[in-house]
Amino acid sequence: MANPDTQYPSPARFIHWTMAALILATIPVGVLMTQEGLERSFQNSLYIFHKNVGVLLLVLILIRIFYRLTHKPAPLPSDIPDWQHRIAGLSHAALYALLLIMPIAGYIRVRSGGFPIEALDALGVPSLVPRSDALAEVAKSIHYFGSFAIAGLIAMHIGAALYHGILRKDGVFSRMWPPFGGSAS
Ligand code: HEM
Ligand code: HEM
Repeated sequence: MANPDTQYPSPARFIHWTMAALILATIPVGVLMTQEGLERSFQNSLYIFHKNVGVLLLVLILIRIFYRLTHKPAPLPSDIPDWQHRIAGLSHAALYALLLIMPIAGYIRVRSGGFPIEALDALGVPSLVPRSDALAEVAKSIHYFGSFAIAGLIAMHIGAALYHGILRKDGVFSRMWPPFGGSAS
């Protein structure tokens, strides 16, 4: 049962679900576009989607972190054990960190490699990093290893959300649901 006093504010819920939908598309597209043997124009479209949605995600996470720092969420229900509080806090912090690291590493990898980011180019935003193959390689590795970390954390996160929403029905899921508007009853 949703309780408006323990729910995240509507803007926090809206941005959470918008980002969730975009990330759940960005990760599989990233994996698919790096496979060999794809038809060239299909692969290009996947890269264009991935890079530009990735930059949009960077903008969204900056807004989200600012909003989070200025709007503290209500405490979790009191019957949630302490260790779950701690794990939730740590995993959310790790998610926020990776949500910053992934698009920044992707941006550096592409820009220092000398490649376009179509939306930024159309807006006339210049590259913020110098052209450097060495830098591109480092950023590429961070992006690659980070992708396993973020995918693993998201899987755990969704598992925990479903555990609360379906098995325990303890109100934790409805802290973040519905994506906007008032509380579900
Ligand atoms: C939250 C944001 C992002 C996530 C979760 C994400 C995830 C991924 C994943 C799972 C892969 C496939 C694994 C790999 O080969 O590295 C990948 C590849 C790639 N991503 Fe991202 N990505 C994000 C943002 C970006 C951004 C903003 C850019 C560039 C503007 C970008 C550029 C690339 C490129 C170029 C590759 C191909 C591998 C390479 O050559 O480095 N990504 N990404
Ligand atoms: C796919 C990408 C996702 C990312 C990156 C993500 C990230 C996050 C983060 C960082 C928080 C902490 C919010 C805060 O305290 O500031 C959060 C909370 C939450 N997320 Fe997600 N999430 C994702 C998808 C999902 C999905 C698919 C579900 C449901 C099946 C879900 C359910 C929840 C719930 C219920 C909370 C509130 C937990 C609490 O009250 O402590 N999330 N999410």
